[in-house]
Amino acid sequence: MKRSRRRITTGIPVEKEHKRIFDLVKSQGVQATCFFNNKGGVGKTTLVANLAAELALNFHAKVLVVDCDPQCNLTQYVLGDEEALEIYSRTDPLSVYSVIRPLSLGKGYGKELPIQKAESFGFDLIIGDPRLALQEDLLAQDWRDAKAGGMRGLRTTYVFADVVGKAKDLNYDFVFFDMGPSLGAINRSILLAMDFFVVPMAIDIFSIWAIKNIGTTVGVWQKELRTGISLSEDPSEIPSIDQSRHLKFLGYVTQQHKERGGSEPDIGSKDGINRKRIVQAYKDISEGFPTQITTNLGSFYDSKRINPHLGDIRHLGSLAPKSQSQHEPMISVRGTGSYTQLRKQAREIYRGIAVRYLENLLGSQGSLT
Ligand SMILES: Nc1ncnc2c1ncn2[C@@H]1O[C@H](COP(=O)(O)OP(=O)(O)O)[C@@H](O)[C@H]1O
Ligand SMILES: [Mg+2]
Repeated sequence: MKRSRRRITTGIPVEKEHKRIFDLVKSQGVQATCFFNNKGGVGKTTLVANLAAELALNFHAKVLVVDCDPQCNLTQYVLGDEEALEIYSRTDPLSVYSVIRPLSLGKGYGKELPIQKAESFGFDLIIGDPRLALQEDLLAQDWRDAKAGGMRGLRTTYVFADVVGKAKDLNYDFVFFDMGPSLGAINRSILLAMDFFVVPMAIDIFSIWAIKNIGTTVGVWQKELRTGISLSEDPSEIPSIDQSRHLKFLGYVTQQHKERGGSEPDIGSKDGINRKRIVQAYKDISEGFPTQITTNLGSFYDSKRINPHLGDIRHLGSLAPKSQSQHEPMISVRGTGSYTQLRKQAREIYRGIAVRYLENLLGSQGSLT
């Protein structure tokens, strides 16, 4: 993935205090975080790639990103076009599919992780694979077995926990999982293997429903898995079964997806009245988020220790597609004119989220001093 063009600087130097927080987090070992919302198009993939890049390029963190969305949007974003074509033209590209495949053949976990470098983003990557969708059935069947205490089922359910364990051995500081929007079997295995989940969301009514769904569903899964483990013959046979591991909610990021600028609505016209209602609804939903979060996800975090709002990502206009076509994170998109201002905003936004993310990691472990 060599690029001959000189890279522009990634901007803002890291403040001493932020470096201190980062060093504290780093000293606690690998942190596995997934970014999930069962609504699509809310900016999950963009957030995973750009937050990981901010941590890797500016904080010099060792980050592994796993693309678990069969649509492979993150992989496409991060890899150059030629490289993606070359990799996916092979009959059996090494990808996240290669991680699950040995299990479906009854061979247990694979030995090595298929890791590649995403140079311009500064992190390592396990690329996505459309064939991952073919594994939903295996994971769903094995989940039934896991709930009843079957060792094969538990082993499959813990496949991503095994990935995190291997990443720990490789001294990664962070492992991020990007996911598709379903509440299906693959995402269940991911969520159950994580230390933390972050919910990226648009400010709309669907996000309120998504928060409700996530809270209820994950709670049920955790209970079923605990039952399965208690029924199993010998859970110690699977090292990734760490009974002390509890999935925690680390926070949410709001995305202002559409540009909502423009003039004040003309309240004299029908269109103006409708627009005013929509603007009011947006305001109500946005103000209601903190309550919705506490009500639906309160059992997954300690509200006395962390403030779950990690930040707000404004609409960055043409910087987002430019970043995709250049295969560069937003903080290092090449361009002048309006891009200079947008890139500056992106640098401030992702730095802010990175710092809040690190603070919440410490806060949720009770060691922020
Ligand atoms: N801050 C932003 N400003 C402008 N466009 C954005 C921003 N964040 C994401 N987008 C665009 O929105 C679309 C959906 O984002 P994506 O990250 O793929 O969402 P998801 O992974 O939740 O489906 C993408 O085309 C992306 O480029
Ligand atoms: Mg996505």
